[in-house]
Amino acid sequence: MGGRRWLTVLVLLFLIGVSEGRELKLKRYDYSDVYNSTLARILVEYASAVYMTDLTELFTWTCSRCNDMTEGFEMVELIVDVQNCLQAFVGIAHDLNAIVIAFRGTQERSIQNWIEDLFWKQLDLNYPEMPDAMVHHGFYSAYHNTSLRPAILNAVERIMDLYGDIRVMVTGHSMGGAMASFCALDLTVNYGIKDIQLMTFGQPRIGNTAFASYFGKHVPHTVRVTNGHDMVPHLPPYYSYFPSKTYHHFAREVWLHNIGLGSLVYLVEKVCDGSGEDPHCSRSVSGSSISDHTMYYGIELEGDTWGSCRIVMSKHIAEYRLDPAGNILLSREPTLRSNLRQRTQTDDRLSSV
Ligand SMILES: *[C@@H]1O[C@H](CO)[C@@H](O)[C@H](O)[C@H]1NC(C)=O
Ligand SMILES: *[C@@H]1O[C@H](CO)[C@@H](O)[C@H](O)[C@H]1NC(C)=O
Repeated sequence: MGGRRWLTVLVLLFLIGVSEGRELKLKRYDYSDVYNSTLARILVEYASAVYMTDLTELFTWTCSRCNDMTEGFEMVELIVDVQNCLQAFVGIAHDLNAIVIAFRGTQERSIQNWIEDLFWKQLDLNYPEMPDAMVHHGFYSAYHNTSLRPAILNAVERIMDLYGDIRVMVTGHSMGGAMASFCALDLTVNYGIKDIQLMTFGQPRIGNTAFASYFGKHVPHTVRVTNGHDMVPHLPPYYSYFPSKTYHHFAREVWLHNIGLGSLVYLVEKVCDGSGEDPHCSRSVSGSSISDHTMYYGIELEGDTWGSCRIVMSKHIAEYRLDPAGNILLSREPTLRSNLRQRTQTDDRLSSV
């Protein structure tokens, strides 16, 4: 009898333990305020579309990658910095009720060479007005010292004039993720835009520990998605024994990796710790893969034509301009699309019956 009672007590204790553990676990792993998987799958499609070379199709949002979860996107500004072979766009995602800004990754002849060069990037620029914050000059300049920035700022302003405080989402893959990061920080620090959502895919490190720490304070809604053995997030290198002297990622990493075997493989989207350099995320594997770099969530993230800064454009696009340096700007005025307007149209139809 005594033994039985003990057993009951033990079982009860076990059950309490399990239920408490479950509760704790649920609390600890509820990251819905940090990472929204649906939003990631939408933004990765924008990061993929910005690689397209046919500017007419991209501008009219009819390209082969301009559909699925990005359908209905209203392009406002498409910018090609011809000199530096960079591309970005700004527009309105009405279903997200947000401005989306997307940056293309590198179009260099060899992605292998581009990745190898990353290894040697120096922390050679002080980020303005942030003591001890160092970044790589080349990444910084690609956003700050090209035709992209003024055109993006102008488009954001035009949309905000019409929509007021609409949310801003910034995205990009690889080098485009680096530019997206500088853009999100710029819009926050220099233009006072609040609550920016930054989501990048396979981006390299861009600054040191001090920079990463400022970044987290200014752009807290940041998700930096990494994938399997993708090489690029491992570069330029981080040395855990010199954490303050070397490159350091900002939080919050979400590491995608497959678990399982054969037909039972499923994708894990692991939300990592707040350090930026979680040893249990992509740092737990070797950065040995280029193919993991060019495919996220099953979406292709590379140019439709590699190795050249090829530009395809039909001549009858009326809205395009060239700046004095020969960079291409395709631009149109944002429109106000709201339920209100739809209602008015219906009313008109009703009253004419
Ligand atoms: C995630 O994002 C999608 C698309 O913006 C939105 O519809 C959904 O409500 C979001 N989910 C959460 C939990 O915020
Ligand atoms: C900006 O770019 C121009 C030419 O592209 C270059 O001469 C200049 O040194 C750059 N400035 C900075 C601060 O990088």
